[in-house]
Amino acid sequence: MHTIDGRTRVCGLMGDPVEHTLSPLIHNTLARDLGHNFVYVPLQVERGQVEEAVRGAWALHLQGMNVTVPHKSAVIPWLKEMDELAEKIGAVNTLVPCRDGYKGYNTDMTGIKRAMESEGIRLCGETVILLGAGGAARAVAFLCAFSGAERVYLLNRTLERAQETASEVNRAFGRDCIMPLPLSGYEKIPDGKYLAVQGTSVGLHPHTEETVIADDAFYEKIHTGYDLIYKPYDTKFMRLVRAHGGRACNGMKMLVYQAIHAYELWNGVEIETAEAEKIIRILKEEMGING
Ligand code: ATR
Repeated sequence: MHTIDGRTRVCGLMGDPVEHTLSPLIHNTLARDLGHNFVYVPLQVERGQVEEAVRGAWALHLQGMNVTVPHKSAVIPWLKEMDELAEKIGAVNTLVPCRDGYKGYNTDMTGIKRAMESEGIRLCGETVILLGAGGAARAVAFLCAFSGAERVYLLNRTLERAQETASEVNRAFGRDCIMPLPLSGYEKIPDGKYLAVQGTSVGLHPHTEETVIADDAFYEKIHTGYDLIYKPYDTKFMRLVRAHGGRACNGMKMLVYQAIHAYELWNGVEIETAEAEKIIRILKEEMGING
């Protein structure tokens, strides 16, 4: 790491818990590689302390903050400005200094967009099957609507949650592109090949042999399966997609690009693909993944 001195700019991650985050590794590697006098640290903030944390960060001249679970929505009332998309989503993961406080952005969404683009995946005009209606899947639902996806079948175990997310997104974009369904709803989706995004927490380490839908008939409908999970690096969902002739991606690039976009906003730089790839290699090493 570079030397910390009187001019070092500080950013941090506020959330609870924060111990397992990979973000410090990503940001501090970027700072070292790019020669920036910048450091990124985890900052545990408990529920009910968000206002104090944001005011404190501003008073301490922090260059910016990332925000994670459970504060992504709770932080919004304490911001001075909101990026238009973050406002639509109602969730913020990045704070950037503005005139007299912080402006909120959602780089989870822009990160997914960049990660998908880097894999040659386009959403415009696509029909997408999206599994899940939690925080991660919501960002994808907004991204699909924002990017001009033709239709999104939003499948969730709790149908009411799928319905809520669908009506929120449809209202935000003024068109009925999200269709909520229960998990079994894939049977009703017309035959064809679709992009499917796995946005539930099923299959996450250590439950690596689980997948939210196990039926072969579901996997027959997928040309590309994008799992938002990156640990394990190869999920059961991804293996089933490949077994049925589809292409499969994990969530590692998404993790890296959400961090990269935040880093760019804080430091006024543009990070090249080669650097993003280097970060992915470092994360894979950290996670003990070969190849
Ligand atoms: P995140 O912010 O990571 O998306 P979350 O908000 O807790 O986490 O959402 C988890 C998602 O995984 C939800 O879509 C959840 O479905 P419910 O809305 O029905 O809870 C889904 N999920 C979690 N465990 C599941 C399981 N065993 N079977 C099916 N879906 C599951």
